[in-house]
This record gives sequence, C-alpha cells and structure tokens, in this order.
Amino acid sequence: MKVMSIFGTRPEAIKMAPLVKALEEDTEIQSVVCVTAQHREMLDMVLELFHIQPDYDLNIMSHGQSIIDIISKSFYGLDDVMKKEKPDLVLVHGDTTTTCAGAQTAFLNKIPVGHVEAGLRSYNIYSPFPEEMNRKITGTIASMHFAPTQGNKNNLLKEGIKEDSIFITGNTVIDALHEVTNNEYVFKEDLLNTIDYNNKKVILLTCHRRENWGQPMENIFNGVKEIVKENEAVELIFPMHMNPKIRALANEILGKEERIHLIEPLDYEPFANLINKCHLIMTDSGGIQEEAPSLGKPVVVLRTETERPEAVEAGTVKVIGVEKSDVIQGVNQLLNNENEYLKMKHAINPYGDGTASKQIVKIIKAKMQSN
Ligand code: UD1
Ligand code: UDP
Repeated sequence: MKVMSIFGTRPEAIKMAPLVKALEEDTEIQSVVCVTAQHREMLDMVLELFHIQPDYDLNIMSHGQSIIDIISKSFYGLDDVMKKEKPDLVLVHGDTTTTCAGAQTAFLNKIPVGHVEAGLRSYNIYSPFPEEMNRKITGTIASMHFAPTQGNKNNLLKEGIKEDSIFITGNTVIDALHEVTNNEYVFKEDLLNTIDYNNKKVILLTCHRRENWGQPMENIFNGVKEIVKENEAVELIFPMHMNPKIRALANEILGKEERIHLIEPLDYEPFANLINKCHLIMTDSGGIQEEAPSLGKPVVVLRTETERPEAVEAGTVKVIGVEKSDVIQGVNQLLNNENEYLKMKHAINPYGDGTASKQIVKIIKAKMQSN
C-alpha cells in the first residue's frame, strides 16, 4: 500500500512529522513524502529536526507570493508527482493552500484522500481566511476524516459526512510535542538562557494571520508595547514569522522597546520548550492553542473567533480580539489576577494523549484492507 503525505508549511510539517514516522515504521506501507515548500526555511527547520527527507520537493516558495501563485504552482507540481507515483492514498493536513491543492489534485487523479486534523470550523469563510474554505473543500473531497475531538466530528456530521468515515484520534501535534519537550532543556540561543523565567513574567508572542494584516496587527503591537511598558516584571519574546510585512511592522512599533525581544523564528524544539518555560502566551496561531494546554500555559488569542472551542471550554484559551484596549485589558487581567491566572493554568488538554499518529496508521490499514 502506497501512502503519499503532502504538506508545505511549518505547522503542517510539525503535525505530519509523527505520522510520517509512524508510516515509515510500518512494513506493510510504502511511505512517500511530497512537500510543496510553500514555506522554505520554516519548513526545513522541521524536516531537519524530525529527520524527514522528502521524496519530492516542489520548492514553490517565492517571497511575498499570492495565494493564486501558491495554488497554481502546487497544482502543476502535485499533478506530475501523483501521475508518476500513483499512490493508493493521499494524506493532507489541516487548512493551508497546500492542503487544499493536495486534496483537489488527488481528486482529479481519482486518488482517495485522508484528511488529518479534520472538522475544525469557525463558520465564517473569511476568518480565518482562506483556511476555513480550504478545510471545507478538503473535507468534501476526503473519504477518511481524522478528527482531533468529538466537537470536530460533530461539525462534519452536520455537513452530511458519513459517520463511518470519521475517526476521533486526538491531534498529532501532541505526539510531536511529547517528543521535543523536557523540563531540563537548555537553549542553544544565548538570549533565551539569560532570561529569568522564575522571577520575570515572560510573555511569548506570535502573530501572522492574514486577516490580522494591517490595522488589527497595528492595534495588537501597540497594545503589546503598552502592556510591557506598564508592567516592570514583564519580558516579552516575539519569534517573528518570516513574512516581510509582519517583520516590518513589528520592527517599526516594537523594535526599540526595552524588555521586548524580536527574534528569528525558532526551531520547533526550542519553541516548544519556550512555551514550557514562559508565563503566558499571546498568539493568533492555531497550533499553539493546542500545544499550550498540554504544558499548562494560559493563551490569549489575538483573534475575534476560534475554531478550537474545546480549548476555550477547557478554560486554557481566551479569545480577546484585536482592539488595542481589549488586548491590554485581556492580558493585564491575567498578569494582575493570580486566581484568574491559576484557573487557566490548571485546565486540562482536550487534544489527546500523544498516540494520534499510531491510531491513524492503524485505521488507514484496516480501511484500505477492507476495500
Ligand atoms: C501560511 C498559510 C496559513 C498557515 C501559515 C502557518 C496559506 C494561504 N496560509 O500562511 O494557513 O497558518 O502558513 O505559518 O496557506 N516566508 C519565508 N520563509 C518561510 C516562510 C514564509 O520567507 O519559510 C515568507 C515569504 O515571503 C512568503 C511569506 O512569508 O511569501 C508568506 O508565506 P505564505 O505561505 O504565503 O503565508 P503564511 O502567512 O505563512
Ligand atoms: N512554532 C515554531 N517556531 C516559532 C513559532 C511557532 O516552531 O518560532 C510552532 C508552534 O509550536 C506550532 C506551529 O509552529 O506548532 C504553529 O505555526 P504557525 O503559528 O505558523 O501556524 P498555525 O498554527 O497558525 O497554522
């Protein structure tokens, strides 16, 4: 049985890595990996960490390219690879442009698709954009849906997806996280070793979402600046996404501020261990909302909605929006109210026990053998 895994960006690579490993270990499966390289440096960091050598690398990234560039280059490259390899199953992950192109190209080649991290929905096709539509299209094409939670399964059932094609597995990000975090971890980056995690309140910030580009991101950065100014005990670390638009704005607003460290994107291992050491997280990322509950870290979400309501229900994630005053108030509440902070810190991870990848491989084998 030949299974082709397709991915292209940092979060897809992190979440597919443990699954690729599990596929490679299975003697009845021939695993083929094709990366679009929608991301380049941020993808390579993950491939190196997990020792994954793709069989195909479409190398499509060019700076500041549009979604149309990404999708058209992916279609042509993936079509060639699928026609050559003729896999029995294509696996895609999540909701990026690579994901959607992978699913559609497989469909046009009449190859069945398994969707990893299926069933997340915000019910607003413009937020997150274009991810909500990407995952809906992928879900319509897929014949196997690996849903992290019961809530994700319910979303798919509401859309008429057949129950026997949906499998609740937890999220593979927990598998990856378990592999790289350890309480004795020492950073290779000097700056990260000099920070006093015990006596300072260290905030970890990430921000990259397309719908936050422009005014919302300006509001967020101005809010961040004020929070750090007002709270002497706070030290803030922002590993900036490689998108030049984001870096320019971050440098302009936060570049000269005391106790704010703008740094390069971190490899997954130091980043996960930084989550483990920090006080709280401010982010618009999807994956970090899933990782932080596992490590007992409160997350404030710099968005107006989330497709991860389990984390909000579990109490570890709070959606605070993108207005400057809301950002300041949401974070100050956690910095100044110990009870509120501890309530969030002790919430329980709803995303599984770190065995999602093994479960997925078992399900794939059973399903394919029964066909
Ligand atoms: C993409 C996904 C988004 C996902 C995010 C994870 C789409 C449309 N967006 O958004 O769903 O949440 O990845 O990070 O699929 N760049 C580099 N080196 C890199 C990566 C990016 O220089 O390794 C720069 C390039 O100039 C690139 C730009 O960042 O053009 C934006 O990358 P792109 O993949 O288009 O969008 P993201 O915002 O990263
Ligand atoms: N991450 C990383 N280094 C960083 C920032 C994030 O390894 O400097 C990891 C993070 O732990 C998570 C993933 O990248 O697993 C999230 O990626 P991103 O925020 O780019 O995308 P999203 O999850 O929003 O799709």
